[in-house]
Amino acid sequence: MSNQLNHFLADDQLNKNQLLALIELAIKIKSNPTDYNQALAGKSVAMIFEKPSLRTHVSFDMGINKLGGHALYLGQQNGKLGERERVSDYAKNLSCFADAIVARVFSHDSIQGLAKHGSVPVINALCDVYHPCQALADFVTLAELLPSLNKSELSSVKLAYVGDGNNVSNSLMIMAATLGVDFTLLTPTGYEAQSDIVAVAQALADESGAKLTITTDVEAIGAQDVIYTDTWISMGDEDASNKAKILAHFAPYQVNHQLMTKANASVVMHCQPAHLEEEITTELFDSEMAVVFQQAENRMWAQNAVLVSLLK
Ligand code: NVA
Repeated sequence: MSNQLNHFLADDQLNKNQLLALIELAIKIKSNPTDYNQALAGKSVAMIFEKPSLRTHVSFDMGINKLGGHALYLGQQNGKLGERERVSDYAKNLSCFADAIVARVFSHDSIQGLAKHGSVPVINALCDVYHPCQALADFVTLAELLPSLNKSELSSVKLAYVGDGNNVSNSLMIMAATLGVDFTLLTPTGYEAQSDIVAVAQALADESGAKLTITTDVEAIGAQDVIYTDTWISMGDEDASNKAKILAHFAPYQVNHQLMTKANASVVMHCQPAHLEEEITTELFDSEMAVVFQQAENRMWAQNAVLVSLLK
């Protein structure tokens, strides 16, 4: 695999060197933003959002502005991708005007269609299977936290994700496996990661030396440095009639002070939006252990590293 990035679609398309280079570049841009304030001068980025967004929308828009570029938000006013126009036509039209496409979509197929039929780089800003921008920002955050975790490298961090096996946990698990970070995925029965994603992560872990633990047993959490959680019900999975049942099923997997103590973990992460008193207690989310706003800020620096790498 060459180290040149053409798109940023799914975590398993990046090798360890590419990931480490992006993390390093994000930290460099964050410490010297003015050095990059013309990096996207004269360039425009089309941003398609099929789902709601706070951090992703704002961090891309303001991040692109900080790089001297122009961001255009395309919400639902043009209808659902693939309905009013084919995804292929959407991609070909946007490629006439834009230098890159950022897309938050319901289906990963749409991301792949945009990349296949467009002629400009495509960035996955969340789909049903992956959230690679989030995972990259999370590893930037972990890299910054190494001194406070008493570690000298990312590969010595122990990270556990507790909750729904979803796009966020898939991306985190695959990036952890690529980077050699020991990763535990703890989900309730019926909400595990898809077997093909686990197989990809396991193959990457075998290569990097990361230990991958997949369990539904809260008692098997083991010793961790960091615990990560996300909503129990993702966008697109909402079914109000089922909510009470899901909340009851997930209740033993709530990330709270007791779980942090059990795992001897000192840091808690959350991609937000948080559903307080569901996947995480308010007390823990508001505590010194939470690095959630550092994660949020790093979305912008991580994405800017991706944009600069794709458009250089
Ligand atoms: N898993 C969540 C992440 C939100 C940023 C969702 O897809 O809704």
